[in-house]
Amino acid sequence: MSDDAFSLAAEAADRLKARTGFDSFDVALVMGSGWVPAADVLGEPAAEIPVTDLPGFAPPAVEGHAGRIRVVEVGGRRALVFLGRTHLYEGHGADAVAHGVRTALAAGVRAVVLTNAAGGLRPETQQVGDPVLITDHLNLTAATPLVGATFVDMTEAYSARLRALALETDPGLKQGVYAALRGPTYETPAEIRMLRTLGADLVGMSTALETIAARRGLPSGETAEVLAFSLVTNLGAGLSDRHLDHEEVLEAGRAAAHRMGSLLATILPKL
Ligand code: HPA
Repeated sequence: MSDDAFSLAAEAADRLKARTGFDSFDVALVMGSGWVPAADVLGEPAAEIPVTDLPGFAPPAVEGHAGRIRVVEVGGRRALVFLGRTHLYEGHGADAVAHGVRTALAAGVRAVVLTNAAGGLRPETQQVGDPVLITDHLNLTAATPLVGATFVDMTEAYSARLRALALETDPGLKQGVYAALRGPTYETPAEIRMLRTLGADLVGMSTALETIAARRGLPSGETAEVLAFSLVTNLGAGLSDRHLDHEEVLEAGRAAAHRMGSLLATILPKL
């Protein structure tokens, strides 16, 4: 993270306010693969723009990542909904991955909900289509959006307060530790066994760097609390007799869209 990354986010936030006609937002949601259809359940958009209208955003690279930013009023909260995100495997670097969260912070947001598609590593307890509350992460990307002596406390990267609110809303929610890998390959069965041994319950290619950016916050010291959910779109490689493909990931999202959208719509007003 350089001063440039923060000024670019500040510029993007100013443009966002001008283009949407809103000058403040309560919460940001990042809808990952599979979660985009759930955004429609949140309600009618009050505004929507392509991310490429704002400085610093890469055009969407993956089908199922719509590349748009929507404003939706949900239960008295104004949510900034990112339909899609930039991934490290796209090659634009860690600052590009963090840019959405930093833009949201610069626009005044102090709570961020990150969602993703993930491989489930615990077939004993997880099923395809389950939303899982992320309790912690293993950042195995060998990357970070921070540079310099920025010693951010990550003891509670995923806010205990927000997790308690989510569990109040849906006491049956499964919980787990998310391992973030760079991708773009899915894992080998040996890597899946390694991740299980390391204590991960979920594996995916996003979220950890955005969480780091939110916990670091702005140069002014303002940070955002993070709440995050995985949708289990498949079991990790080798844990079932199936092979993995992106279409399967998207289909699991479409099938679970209503459940995940209602979960988010119930939680948002409490954040
Ligand atoms: N591995 C990594 N990323 C993923 C997976 C997976 O099995 N499923 C959805 N995203």
